Amino acid sequence: MVVKTPQALREALTDKGRVGFVPTMGYLHEGHGALIRRARSECDTVVVSVFVNPKQFGVNEDLSRYPRDLQRDLTVAGAAGAALLFHPDVDTMYPPGYATTVAVGGASEPLEGSARPGHFAGVATVVLKLLNIVRPERAYFGEKDWQQLAVVRQMVRDLNVPVEIVGVPTVREVSGLALSSRNSYLTPEQRERAAVLSRALRAVQAAAEAGERDAARLRQAGLAVLQTEPEVQLDYLAIVDRDLRERERVELDPLARVLIAARMFGVRLIDNLPLFEPLPSGLDEAEALSGTGGL
Ligand code: PAF
Repeated sequence: MVVKTPQALREALTDKGRVGFVPTMGYLHEGHGALIRRARSECDTVVVSVFVNPKQFGVNEDLSRYPRDLQRDLTVAGAAGAALLFHPDVDTMYPPGYATTVAVGGASEPLEGSARPGHFAGVATVVLKLLNIVRPERAYFGEKDWQQLAVVRQMVRDLNVPVEIVGVPTVREVSGLALSSRNSYLTPEQRERAAVLSRALRAVQAAAEAGERDAARLRQAGLAVLQTEPEVQLDYLAIVDRDLRERERVELDPLARVLIAARMFGVRLIDNLPLFEPLPSGLDEAEALSGTGGL
């Protein structure tokens, strides 16, 4: 069922038990399917929002051509177990006179924050509005947008938003390319070639797991792979700690990460991997996340 207004959504959620929420910008793929299935396995009712949020796009970005297909979204969301699709108009979310922006510090500053000024303020603003409208017990975000996940966790922590944020591992094509709605801009051959980004991340991860702790040398392992593909216009390849800070040496930490952003064939793609996988035995994700300042 599609609902278009906050009021209709609140009515539809009456007596529906524990609500799980998957915010999206639509054009759903298997990555969203994994989020919805995880939500369905943990909650009574799953709400998926489909809203292409203008506030998180820069002036020269792809807002007008961002892929949209509500019928397909309904099919994918329903098959994965969603009960409701919340699909508000822009005017419903930002009516005339709307004047509030949520600015998250810390996690939103480096990397994507400096490459895309205003992006995370747009994300935080819409996510907080959606959380206030849906009022879920849990909200599910893909780890593919690792920094976004960190920004949302920071906002929820700082503003005492009563929701549990759940990060769900990235779903990949067989080639290794991380699923993304923006992959639809690429031809099948270009998608194969774009898998070089995940191979570079794997090379960094393999070097870390082999014992390398020097961030410059880890980075070099990834750059060597990227140099095999002339289409890569690298924005950043960053080795970061749990607070998204670049350090000269890395620690054996399940939340240490390697993140990449690059333009290929005119499309900006991002991806990331943990430096160390799987988690060291005896340290589960909940324990890792309970430390101060981490994701
Ligand atoms: O990850 C996305 O699809 C978007 O940034 C989100 C979280 C739905 C906010 O518009």
